[in-house]
Amino acid sequence: MAYGLLKGKRGIISGALNESSIAWKIAQRAHEEGATFTLTNAPIAMRMGEIRQLAEQTGAEIIPADATSVDDITNLFTKSQEVLGGKVDFVLHSIGMSPNIRKGKAYTDLNYEWLKQTLDISAVSFHKMLQTAYKLDAINEWGSVVALTYMAAQRTFPFYTDMADAKAMLESIARSFGYRYGKSHKVRINTVSQSPTQTTAGGGIGGFDKFFDFADKTAPLGNATADQCADYVITLFSDLTRMVTMQNLFHDGGFSMTGISEEVMEALTKK
Ligand code: NAI
Repeated sequence: MAYGLLKGKRGIISGALNESSIAWKIAQRAHEEGATFTLTNAPIAMRMGEIRQLAEQTGAEIIPADATSVDDITNLFTKSQEVLGGKVDFVLHSIGMSPNIRKGKAYTDLNYEWLKQTLDISAVSFHKMLQTAYKLDAINEWGSVVALTYMAAQRTFPFYTDMADAKAMLESIARSFGYRYGKSHKVRINTVSQSPTQTTAGGGIGGFDKFFDFADKTAPLGNATADQCADYVITLFSDLTRMVTMQNLFHDGGFSMTGISEEVMEALTKK
């Protein structure tokens, strides 16, 4: 059901790779709620071509940008304002990648060149987006920026290796930049900490399926889906959450506040 929550709002949505991407669902919901926006992804992801379907569905223009390149991000914000006809009201950072995870490196045997890439792509890129927007004064007052994160920033999950460090940094950037952008332009910045979700990035993590089931059986409401994440992010882009900033907001069916569930205890004691 649509409520017109983003009527008249302009935005930038990164990270929609294919139909299972969380960003894909957020773009669809933002469109339903009346927003206009540009879509962006790394030039290499563009070649896979699926994003064009989403662009057609939502009437969005695609502006390729490698999130580690300040030049690309500057072009993204400049072109987006031209295409959309003014400053933007919301920005989604939905970007993550770890070469160490991709190549199966243990946390006790990290390749440091790859670690730099993990941090640059998954965390510093958020600072680059914010700093570029700030310098260009590209976000309207009371605008909203959201980045997606995972609870491994607070608690250890062995399979998440160096992405845990990247997420801790990402969440810290939301607080540090949130203070400054809030003071100067009333722009709010939050991270949404989402349940394990079946996507290309999620599925790339070792043992994902088992952990997905564990989280689902632990959370009293079960795992939150990508569609439900989209609903939540839309509220954060809307005017209904104007005083929420610098927060890490758990969207996980209660997983983060649960010690253990009956289902998990039963599974452990089964002979
Ligand atoms: P996804 O694989 O669909 O999205 C990741 C995106 O990052 C892709 O579109 C990819 O092209 C983009 N990307 C990678 N390198 C890039 C670069 N250099 N420049 C620009 N874009 C680049 O997977 P998903 O799950 O939708 O991931 C989106 C966000 O949600 C990520 O930050 C991820 O860590 C986070 N998240 C995912 C969870 C999951 O279980 N799937 C749980 C919690 C958070």
